[in-house]
Amino acid sequence: LNLSIYLSIYIYIYIYIYIYIYIYIYIYIYTHTHTHTPMKKTKELIGDAGVTFSNAFTATPLCCPSRSSILTGKYPHNHLVRNNSISGNCSSTAWQKEAEPFAFPVYLNKMRYQTFYGGKYLNQYGSKDAGGVGHVPPGWDQWHALVGNSKYYNYTLSVNGKEENHGDNYEKDYLTDLALKIYLTCILILYPNHPFFMMLCPPSPHSPWTAAPQYQQSFSDVKAPRDGSFNMPGKDKHWLLRQPANPMPNSSIEYLDNAYRRRWQTLLSVDDMVEQLIKKLDSIKELNNTYIFYTSDHGYHTGQFSLPIDKRQLYEFDIRIPLLVRGPGIKPKQALQSPVLNIDLSMTILDIAGVNLSTVNMDGQSFLPQMAPSLRNGTERPFFLIEYTGEGNSSEDPSCPKLGPGLAECFPDCVCEDAFNNTYACVRTLKDANLQYCEFADNESFVEVYNLTSDPHQLENIVKKVDPALLQIMNQRLIKLESCTGDSCRNVK
Ligand SMILES: *[C@@H]1O[C@H](CO)[C@@H](O)[C@H](O)[C@H]1NC(C)=O
Ligand SMILES: *[C@@H]1O[C@H](CO)[C@@H](O)[C@H](O)[C@H]1NC(C)=O
Ligand SMILES: *[C@@H]1O[C@H](CO)[C@@H](O)[C@H](O)[C@H]1NC(C)=O
Ligand SMILES: *[C@@H]1O[C@H](CO)[C@@H](O)[C@H](O)[C@H]1NC(C)=O
Ligand SMILES: *[C@@H]1O[C@H](CO)[C@@H](O)[C@H](O)[C@H]1NC(C)=O
Ligand SMILES: *[C@@H]1O[C@H](CO)[C@@H](O)[C@H](O)[C@H]1NC(C)=O
Ligand SMILES: *[C@@H]1O[C@H](CO)[C@@H](O)[C@H](O)[C@H]1NC(C)=O
Ligand SMILES: *[C@@H]1O[C@H](CO)[C@@H](O)[C@H](O)[C@H]1NC(C)=O
Ligand SMILES: *[C@@H]1O[C@H](CO)[C@@H](O)[C@H](O)[C@H]1NC(C)=O
Ligand SMILES: *[C@@H]1O[C@H](CO)[C@@H](O)[C@H](O)[C@H]1NC(C)=O
Ligand SMILES: *[C@@H]1O[C@H](CO)[C@@H](O)[C@H](O)[C@H]1NC(C)=O
Repeated sequence: LNLSIYLSIYIYIYIYIYIYIYIYIYIYIYTHTHTHTPMKKTKELIGDAGVTFSNAFTATPLCCPSRSSILTGKYPHNHLVRNNSISGNCSSTAWQKEAEPFAFPVYLNKMRYQTFYGGKYLNQYGSKDAGGVGHVPPGWDQWHALVGNSKYYNYTLSVNGKEENHGDNYEKDYLTDLALKIYLTCILILYPNHPFFMMLCPPSPHSPWTAAPQYQQSFSDVKAPRDGSFNMPGKDKHWLLRQPANPMPNSSIEYLDNAYRRRWQTLLSVDDMVEQLIKKLDSIKELNNTYIFYTSDHGYHTGQFSLPIDKRQLYEFDIRIPLLVRGPGIKPKQALQSPVLNIDLSMTILDIAGVNLSTVNMDGQSFLPQMAPSLRNGTERPFFLIEYTGEGNSSEDPSCPKLGPGLAECFPDCVCEDAFNNTYACVRTLKDANLQYCEFADNESFVEVYNLTSDPHQLENIVKKVDPALLQIMNQRLIKLESCTGDSCRNVK
């Protein structure tokens, strides 16, 4: 009897110590959209200290659907957020009822993590039809979320359900810096009672690209890269890509160079934030006990295929995202080629927290085995889905009357970046062959196929050249992926 009591006490203590030692703190920063490369200090402090993924993708290249994928670990066909409007389920009451209660912070909270959110959430968050600032999503203990889309000044936050208005005093209000200040305050409140998770979402580098005063002159000689598809015609591509003027007018080029430069300027504040965060964690001796993820919700283009600026396209420049991770068990200076998706972030975070992943209904898979093989075994996915529902406007844009209805984002120079029929689904393979196969829901049932090995800039659509048997295999995979859920998204043959 005594022995048994002794043993159970021993086990209890052991578990307690085990849990105590493995208190990991996660900080998960993500910048709104990426401009191809994280800044210098971020690369050093996160990438060099851990892994840099060279094949990280978003499952859908638009803010609200992508952010919804990050939160739920699901492809858009399962979380049903189709676009940035409430009618497309962006922060809609249906989303709040059906999807948000199963987002990853809810599971973390059940594991007794203290959770903190700071910055932009979903584009329609806080609007009247979405429950106003009083709606605090489940799973978050500290909630400091931006109402609406990205802003740097003159914005409103929901601070744990209460409205807080901000002006345009740099020291007090600049949102990218404020996210850090709130974090530094919260870390003092939260530490050291429980492990915690923080998600910091600055508006940078989203428009209106308002740089901090000290960075407004930075990168004055930087221009958008004139890479493979810059200012090229989208001649053998889907309808929308055949519309822009080519070559682009100089006014478009000036506009996009300016946008590119200003986006970089706003990222310098994110770079400072990363440095401050890491300093703070170091000073409280928790840096080696913390996982830090740096990523984005989608890519961005500046002049590729003569599209001035935006995301929303199926090409590499819009679907690739930066992903840098450091933390316990991750060896420094690793460059990993494993394909990872934004729907994998939630599974990876829950895996680290010790959640039993077979009890979680998500489409993604943990990439902890790829980052830290000493902690987990696991295989990579063979291929994956990219899916997108085009945004349009059923009335015609009065400043671009030639274009007719059905289009959207026709700026600058009346080049439209989106349309209702820019609706597509793609299968992407990386391992045996670097291929992309996409089908459009338009009245041409348009198909685009790229061999990324021979054509990394996707200049040539090879649909008419490629072996029809391969097209059929890719079409079958696409059909399976478009209706997959949970396990069937991970194990498509
Ligand atoms: C929005 O979400 C609800 C509930 O999940 C779903 O019934 C509805 O079809 C979705 N709307 C769209 C446009 O997909
Ligand atoms: C913020 O709002 C004030 C008052 O409306 C306005 O004067 C100011 O120009 C705005 N600042 C910015 C950066 O938009
Ligand atoms: C556009 O810019 C190019 C290069 O700077 C210049 O050669 C050309 O004359 C400009 N065209 C117009 C219409 O301004
Ligand atoms: C972190 O570093 C401290 C001090 O060097 C050490 O005591 C602790 O065991 C380390 N923790 C981990 C998880 O490596
Ligand atoms: C995880 O959950 C599944 C399904 O409920 C269960 O069968 C399995 O035993 C659990 N695994 C662990 C390690 O608890
Ligand atoms: C991975 O699998 C190997 C072989 O089955 C096993 O020896 C090793 O302990 C496993 N590692 C982890 C971290 O589970
Ligand atoms: C968003 O999706 C909804 C539902 O499909 C649609 O009615 C609405 O027009 C879409 N919004 C835009 C801007 O395309
Ligand atoms: C559609 O275009 C009209 C006319 O330009 C504009 O008033 C309206 O706000 C636009 N709707 C959306 C959803 O952008
Ligand atoms: C796409 O939509 C636009 C605008 O409604 C229309 O003019 C065009 O013909 C459509 N193209 C295809 C291929 O469906
Ligand atoms: C596609 O639809 C648009 C109208 O939406 C029409 O103008 C165009 O001719 C159609 N194209 C084909 C190939 O049917
Ligand atoms: C893709 O390009 C590579 C390199 O040129 C070639 O070896 C491969 O056969 C091509 N694949 C297809 C499907 O065309």
